[in-house]
Order: sequence, then C-alpha cells, then structure tokens
Amino acid sequence: MTEITRDVLIIGAGAAGTTAANDLRKAGLSVAVLEARDRVGGRLWTDVIEGAMLEIGGQWVSPDQDALKDTIAELGLETYSRYREGDSVYVGPDGQVHRFTGEMFPVSEATEKVIADITERLDAMVAEIDPDQPWAHPKAEEWDTITWDAWLREQTDDDEAVRNLAFATGSAMLTKPTHAFSLLQSLLMAASAGSYSNLVDADFILDKRVVGGLQQVPQLLAERLGDDVFLNQPVRTLEWSDAGVIATTDQMTVKARYAILAFAPVLYNRISFVPALPRRQHQMHQHLSMGFVIKVHAVYDRPFWRESGLSATAFSPYELCHEAYDNTNHGDERGTLVGFVSDQNADDLFTLTAEERKERILESLSHYYGPEAKNPVVYYESDWGTEEWTRGAYAASFDMGGLHRYGADLRTPVGPIHFACSDLAGAGYQHVDGAIRMGHLAASNIVASSRDAG
Ligand code: FDA
Repeated sequence: MTEITRDVLIIGAGAAGTTAANDLRKAGLSVAVLEARDRVGGRLWTDVIEGAMLEIGGQWVSPDQDALKDTIAELGLETYSRYREGDSVYVGPDGQVHRFTGEMFPVSEATEKVIADITERLDAMVAEIDPDQPWAHPKAEEWDTITWDAWLREQTDDDEAVRNLAFATGSAMLTKPTHAFSLLQSLLMAASAGSYSNLVDADFILDKRVVGGLQQVPQLLAERLGDDVFLNQPVRTLEWSDAGVIATTDQMTVKARYAILAFAPVLYNRISFVPALPRRQHQMHQHLSMGFVIKVHAVYDRPFWRESGLSATAFSPYELCHEAYDNTNHGDERGTLVGFVSDQNADDLFTLTAEERKERILESLSHYYGPEAKNPVVYYESDWGTEEWTRGAYAASFDMGGLHRYGADLRTPVGPIHFACSDLAGAGYQHVDGAIRMGHLAASNIVASSRDAG
C-alpha cells in the first residue's frame, strides 16, 4: 500500500475534479486526484474508432457557457461551429418528411400557435427561476409535484404540440420519460440554459465543438497536476471526521484535511463512508437517478446530405432517433452524422442483437436523410449504461418531488467532504460548463474554510 498525505483529496478526474484540483493548487494547497478508470475525463471521452475520431461523451459548447468557454480559452484550445447550412428535417405523426428552416417545426398553423403560446408561458416561468436554487421559488412544491407530461397536457389537447414541447427537456436533455420527472425539474433544465427558447434552439445549445475533442479539457488540466493524478484507483472507503479524511483504494491510502467527491451522485454509494453519511444525504441520494440515451455515430465517405441542401439537423418525437445532426470533424473530408435514442426507446433497443439495433437505428436515420444513410463506413453506439463508473447518460436528475424536497442540500458539505459534479449544478446543469462551475465552487469553499481554520 502506498500512503500519501495532501491538503485535499479529489475523487474523480472528470471536468469537475480536474478543475477543482487546479484551483486548489493555485491557492497553494497540495492535492491528490484518485480516478477509478484507466483514463482521465469521465463523461468526456474522445477516441478513434476504426480510423474515425469520435466524441463518445460530451462535445458541444453553447454561447452562455462562460465557465467552459473561459477554460477552453485558457487552455489555448480552438473551437469550430457545427455545420448548419441548408434545410432541417422534421418527420410528422403520419411519417411524412418535411424540410424547414428556422426554429419552428413545420406543423399546422393551429399547432404552431399552441407551441408558440406555451413556449412564451414557459419562458416567463423560467425567467422567475434561479437555476442555482429552483427550490426557492414560491411555487416550487406545486411545480415539483406535477409531471412534465401532465402539466403540458393540462395546457392543450394538441398531442403533436405536447410531444414537440416535451422532448426538449425529456428525450433531448434529462433523457427520461416525461412522466418520470416534474415540471420544476424541466424548468431547472431550461433555466440552466437561460430560457426554454434557448434550450430548444439547436443553433444555441449545440453551437461549437473543440478541435481535437472536448476530452482535452480534463486531459490538459490533469497534465498540469502531473504525478498528483492516480489512475485505476477506485476509492472503496472514506473515513471522515472534523480532523479530515482517509481514503482507501486497493493500492493506496490518502490522508487529507478535505475531500471533494467529484462524480455523479448515483455512485456515492459505491464508497463505504466511515462513519456513514447523515440520514439526509442517504435519503437525498436515493432520489437521484441517471437518464439514459444512446449516442449513435455514423461516418460516411462524404457528407452526402449537404449535396441535397440538408444541414442534417433533424427532429421528430415520432422517430427512434428523436434528433440527429451533422457531426463532421473539423477539416475532415468524411461526413459524420450523430443521432440520439433516448429513455424507453434505448431500453427497447438493448433487448435486440447488435445487428438488429444497428439496422433499426440506420433505418430511422434514413427517414431523415434518404437510403444512403443506411451505409456508413464506420458505425458506433456510445453506451454509457454499461460504464461502471457512470451508469447512464447524460446525467442525474431527481425523481418526482425530489428537487424541492432535497435540492437545497445537494451541494452542502458534510464535515470535510465537499461535492462537485455537473449533476449538482444550477447554471450549466448536466453540462461540462456546470461541472467546471461546481469544481470552482468546491475549491473556493475549501480555500475559504482552510483560511478560517488558519
Ligand atoms: P464525470 O462523470 O465526467 O467524472 C467523474 C469521474 O469520477 C469519472 O472519471 C469516474 O470514473 C470517477 N469516479 C467515480 N467514482 C469513483 C470512485 N469511487 N473512485 C475514483 N473515481 C471515481 N455536456 C456538454 O456540455 N455538452 C455535450 O454535448 C454533452 N453531451 C454528452 C453526451 C454524452 C453521451 C454524455 C455521457 C454526456 C454528455 N454531456 C455533455 C455531459 C457532460 O459530459 C457531463 O456533464 C460532464 O462531463 C460531467 O463531468 P463531471 O466531472 O461532473 O463528472
């Protein structure tokens, strides 16, 4: 067993953990980062599959994500815009394919009006919510005890409008069925991006990518930490008291004055805490769960859809792939499409063989782009459900009623233990931006606490 002592132990070398560790170092504190996997980055993972560079995890950066943008600039990384010239595609309830431009789906005039009215209502509600404390809104309990689906269906009986409004926070973001989370959780998701309108605007939310891949952010941050990052070290036990912590992995013991748990809250119970965490944390963490989405990558010898004037931006609440985009890498001659299959559709697909799954997914893409979509040269499914140290995608959210009941304690430290992860964020919630914000926050709280302690 290797034994080391540091001021702060950080568990998890994702965007949150590597950000916190760098801040602490800059403030003059010594750190050790223990990472369960054999790589840095967590849900950021850029890899080469059959010769194609793929973003297996997170990739997009939006204009409001200042914490992430600052880090990207500070690390000297370059960004480029998602390809978006040409028409978008929408598949309606009758399976008809419609080309359109702009943000509004090509639905009937009546449905368009319903969508516009409810969007206005949602924007007004979101404007009243502080993403850092949605539970503080006077109507938090009322909005947290009605499902997102039920609230939308109270507003209108236009099913096509409901499905199109629902999927922005449902299939596309929280990646859970819309009956499984509350209106308040949905409003938080929108507030974290500034407004509901921002969230449904693909050109805003999926704006830029990093040349060479977004995993470089935690990788470069980890490089600065040098030998203080330890891979293949899942923390098994965390002893804690007012005096500090002792973490044990299969090969190491780390003593520190503080610890930061920089990973998804659904995994806290993989660690034996000695003594046990307080009852509030025990209860709260059981009301958080991961969504589930399959990110599908299909690479072609050329971006063939551009030849017929398509941007590749495609949506349909009636399709297996509810959304898909041009995901061609910077400077790449080949064309890449990325599609998403969410929640129950993703569950259903994993009851099939890999061949059947591929066939069903490519069939869905062909509805948007024509038969050529069925013949990629590289095909890959990102399946985070089988990743032991993540267990879903994109992130964790509360079940019905959990957000107003427990939310206020999400980021509250327990003795020397602090918490940082995208899944605990307000602004940037579920995104890399939120992970970085939470990393900064945990680090600054520890710096302040250690100064107070003298
Ligand atoms: P993260 O989960 O990344 O890191 C936690 C680390 O802790 C992991 O490396 C894990 O191995 C480690 N760990 C866990 N338990 C441990 C233990 N007991 N001991 C030691 N180590 C332990 N975001 C975005 O901004 N734009 C996007 O386009 C997307 N798209 C997207 C697609 C897909 C498929 C996914 C899965 C996710 C996204 N996201 C995204 C979300 C984004 O990737 C995510 O919010 C952040 O990367 C999370 O960073 P964290 O550091 O908070 O946790």
